[in-house]
Amino acid sequence: MSEEYLEEEDFQTKFTGKTFLRILGLTKPHWKWVIGFLLAIASVSGLDSFFTYLSKRIVDEGIVAGNKDALIGILSIYGALLVVQAIFAFFFIYLAGVLGERIRYDLRKALFNHLQKLSLSYYSRTPVGWIMSRVTSDTERVADLVTWGLLDMTWGFMNIVTSMIFMLIISWKLAILVFIALPILFYVSIQFRKRILVQFRNVRKLNSKITGAYNENITGVRVIKALGRESGNLEEFSYITSDMYKASYRAAWLSALFLPTVQIVSSFALGAIVWYGGLQADYGLITIGGIQAFVSYVTFMMWPIQDLARVFAEMQHAMASGERIFSLLDAVPSVKDQPKAYDPGTIFGEIEFDQVSFAYEDNKPVLQDFSLKVKPGETIALVGPTGGGKTTIVNLLCRMYEPTKGKIKINGKDYTDFSLHGIQSRIGMVLQTPHLFSGTIRENLRYGRLDATDDEIERAAQLAGAHEFITKLEKGYEEPVGEGGNLLSVGQKQLISLARAVLANPELFIMDEATSSVDTLTEALIQQGMETLMKNSTSFIIAHRLSTIKKANRIIVIEDGQISEIGSHSELLKKGGKYYNLYTKQFRNQMEQVYDPFKELGGASGLPLAVE
Ligand SMILES: Nc1ncnc2c1ncn2[C@@H]1O[C@H](COP(=O)(O)OP(=O)(O)OP(=O)(O)O)[C@@H](O)[C@H]1O
Ligand SMILES: [Mg+2]
Repeated sequence: MSEEYLEEEDFQTKFTGKTFLRILGLTKPHWKWVIGFLLAIASVSGLDSFFTYLSKRIVDEGIVAGNKDALIGILSIYGALLVVQAIFAFFFIYLAGVLGERIRYDLRKALFNHLQKLSLSYYSRTPVGWIMSRVTSDTERVADLVTWGLLDMTWGFMNIVTSMIFMLIISWKLAILVFIALPILFYVSIQFRKRILVQFRNVRKLNSKITGAYNENITGVRVIKALGRESGNLEEFSYITSDMYKASYRAAWLSALFLPTVQIVSSFALGAIVWYGGLQADYGLITIGGIQAFVSYVTFMMWPIQDLARVFAEMQHAMASGERIFSLLDAVPSVKDQPKAYDPGTIFGEIEFDQVSFAYEDNKPVLQDFSLKVKPGETIALVGPTGGGKTTIVNLLCRMYEPTKGKIKINGKDYTDFSLHGIQSRIGMVLQTPHLFSGTIRENLRYGRLDATDDEIERAAQLAGAHEFITKLEKGYEEPVGEGGNLLSVGQKQLISLARAVLANPELFIMDEATSSVDTLTEALIQQGMETLMKNSTSFIIAHRLSTIKKANRIIVIEDGQISEIGSHSELLKKGGKYYNLYTKQFRNQMEQVYDPFKELGGASGLPLAVE
């Protein structure tokens, strides 16, 4: 995970109000549940305060006055209300569960939908771990804020307000005395809150660094082991964890100090009540039950104030989660349908790159004024040195990215006039590193065309030359491929993705040939699959295999984002230029290896030839 990225992620709380409203907005579709939820909490909390008031009356009107009837009367009300409170308590806990689940579901669905719309450029910029934690832990936190956070706030608010009301009813003078202590407590709370939050934010930032480090180390475990980078990585990792330890330590220290401070302030308030209340009681202005109730109310009010720091810290966490979720939801796909985009019905036809320029990053042009006309059904082989821009050309063609200047035309029309679906659903693509989804081979093949029958799937596999190896597997077409197709070899994965493309019967076929060598038999099978596809469609092949290149109608040598040579195999060989050099350097060597007579006999290797 890059440093730069984390800085960007460190959202400030300037727009907290806006984010908070937006988070609350998530409850809109469920507003009836929310109102029921809030009413239930308010009732439970209001009843709590009322119980304290009833206790006061039990003491004063029942016990002190020795009035048995009054005592029984008040106790019956108390008992009945306890049942009512239990019912409300059941409802708010139940509603919190339901509401949380709905919000989580809504958010995850919205994120999933949006992630599908985002362009490739977003994914190449954004670490997978970052996206995953938005979908998992952040949705969780936002859902918690909407349920338990709302609960805490309503409960706390109701506790304070109802306590104040009953205190004013019992003795307004004493109540005012208590109210004076409140701002002091709030002030102390807020001061602590600020400091604790800073530490928590540090902890969170470091935590996401740690997650990122884990993620990279786990996904890249092979490379790390192969390069012996374990100890270096461990050192970097221990720096982050020790920073994390320090920040956590500070947060814990502040949190520990906070509670005793609040308690000291509140004991002063309680002391004042007992002292002043005692004086008043002497003059008959307040009853014993009244003083007792006051003490209860003060403790009652202290609780939400003490808890304020925790609630706010959690809210802040959730708010940051919300901000990150919204930043993802607000990310505009860089490639999207124009307002009047339409489905062209077919994309088979002439394809033209008309002075196309493109850059992944500003000021780093990859293609410049690239022009090319391709006839319907033609097979184009793209060859050239690494980093030359071959993959970029096919990325543009599939509209994974769009040209920054110039146009790509299909049948004479700018392809941005068409809908993305209209284009991409008619393209078959086999990538350099083919990706399979975990599931069975059959499921992976069906991904090419969801309504394909089993027969069609097997026929496509036969055409692509994949059938044979599949039937040799223990479970045949039902064999699981493992996560990302890990249980299969690269050659096998390529055969499956070829079969998938054959099944889709694309009008435009694009293949980024794998450079990794597969055995000669698989190579022949792959060739067979490609030829099936090339027959029915216009094809762009980024070619490394001599057999493919020879079959292509035209070969284009791409160097530094420009066409340096173009022509058929024999034309280019005759010319004796770049292609000739590439060919003699690379492909002749391949040929010699395949047809090396000495190798067959187990003798010395063939002629010493220049290797790339
Ligand atoms: N997602 C990306 N973001 C930024 N730059 C990129 C990105 N993808 C490729 N590039 C840059 O664009 C240039 C062309 O890359 P491209 O992948 O098109 O080369 P290529 O000809 O396909 O190479 P290879 O034969 O190794 O596959 C390279 O300089 C590369 O660094
Ligand atoms: Mg490439």
